[in-house]
Amino acid sequence: SNQLDVPRSELLDLAVRIAKEAGDMLVAKRPRRPEIVETKSSPTDVVTALDHASEELIRGRIREARPADAILGEEDGLSDGAGRVRWIVDPIDGTVNFLYGLPEWAVSIAVEVDGEVVAGVVNVLPRKEVFAAEKGAGAYLLTTGERLHCTTGVPLEEALIATGFGYARGRRKVQAEVLAHVVPRVRDIRRVGSAAADLCALAAGRVDGYYERGLNLWDYAAGALIAAEAGARVGGLHGNPIGPEFAIAAAPELFEQLHDLLAPLDPARDA
Ligand code: IPD
Ligand code: CA
Ligand code: CA
Ligand code: CA
Repeated sequence: SNQLDVPRSELLDLAVRIAKEAGDMLVAKRPRRPEIVETKSSPTDVVTALDHASEELIRGRIREARPADAILGEEDGLSDGAGRVRWIVDPIDGTVNFLYGLPEWAVSIAVEVDGEVVAGVVNVLPRKEVFAAEKGAGAYLLTTGERLHCTTGVPLEEALIATGFGYARGRRKVQAEVLAHVVPRVRDIRRVGSAAADLCALAAGRVDGYYERGLNLWDYAAGALIAAEAGARVGGLHGNPIGPEFAIAAAPELFEQLHDLLAPLDPARDA
């Protein structure tokens, strides 16, 4: 049948419970100076033991509750499932902040049904803020119960824009060049260090726009739903959906302006 075995809201509840448990574990176990256990695509792209521990905890809890579901996680890849549900897990988004003790890192969990993200939670631990959204039902800061709305009517030159610089080797020079074109045309830039937290900040109206190139699905799956459910347009370049190639999020009018600023800068070029 076309019926899911559980209502979507139960999937969100489970995601929220697991994101909270993983977050509490991370806060409890974070040493004063976490150690880098591995670097991936570049020296910026670091992994700590707790990235792995968080993903292990999250995978274990999902499997206990829903053994047939697929799970895609940053550190352990894809485990296939038999059903229609896939979980997308970033066990720590903002590992560099976690490493240095800066207060913006998050546990991000999204739930896909038939390839569409229907629920997402981003637990920004150091801020004690849990953001969540269910497709079609709005985005909320669960900690206060507040419904989230992105800003509207902000022109590009008055917009505070969050961005990030993907870690892959060879991209950083182009990212800096793109940034040099953006900085004089906006109010200011924020590089917070967690794409998931950036998208939630956008949803909460704390920044007006966001763009980044080179994300992975686990970075944005939950945050993009939260931003969209807060009224943002979320997408890529030239009408493409948000993806690893490019991510833009803002109120629809600002999205257009940001897109038209970024598109000719050829962000697909490597250098
Ligand atoms: C990173 C963060 C960062 C973004 C990078 C991501 P990680 O995720 O979201 O803000 O700029 O592109 O890789 O590695 O800390 O989970
Ligand atoms: Ca990482
Ligand atoms: Ca991430
Ligand atoms: Ca991560």
